[in-house]
Amino acid sequence: MLSRDDVFSELGIGPAWRLRETLPASRAPLVAPQSPSYTWDQLADAVAHCTACKLSATRTQGVLGVGDRNADWLIIGEAPGADEDRIGEPFVGQAGKLLDAMLASIGLRRGDNVYIANVLKSRPPGNRNPEPDEVAACRPYLLAQIELIRPKLILALGRFAAQSLLDTDEAISRLRGRVHQFQNVPLVVTYHPAYLLRNLPDKARAWEDLCLARRTMQALVTA
Ligand code: URA
Repeated sequence: MLSRDDVFSELGIGPAWRLRETLPASRAPLVAPQSPSYTWDQLADAVAHCTACKLSATRTQGVLGVGDRNADWLIIGEAPGADEDRIGEPFVGQAGKLLDAMLASIGLRRGDNVYIANVLKSRPPGNRNPEPDEVAACRPYLLAQIELIRPKLILALGRFAAQSLLDTDEAISRLRGRVHQFQNVPLVVTYHPAYLLRNLPDKARAWEDLCLARRTMQALVTA
């Protein structure tokens, strides 16, 4: 007998649509995507014109992500800041410079086997924390990115990205140091580069996280 998932896949209904059926009401996307799965062009267009949450009224532009669309590494931050909102690319400010240095420390380069995105595609005004309805409204876009990229590993940057991806309130100190799963993709947590700019001693811990991520990737590639 066909399972429900078999039926969904027979119908060509992808994860972004299924999400609506499986999430509790408080986490369900506010607006169902017109199409169950997106092409990159459709996704870019949907993010550019999205009005699913109140951030669309204050943002300059939606910031989809940047990098290699076939990357093994997917880096996920929180939300665009002022620079990202203006330029339309994630992590282009001071935190972005540190992120590039963190990537370089494990032999990676922005755009080369690395894709960088955020949980939110629109800037929260005044860089306030994202709100739950905004995260829920943006979630289908992140899921669609994961579906398109099919990364081998996700690196979650900071408390907010880690907690919202893993749907937990656990402190980042407890989420670091182990390999989680998000959408069946291994996920490693580290500190947000903006936090590290203010808390230099934690750079040593971030280095440990990057080493864990690199070891995990090596194991995945050679498996
Ligand atoms: N902080 C984030 O989390 N994402 C960005 O794109 C920039 C700063």
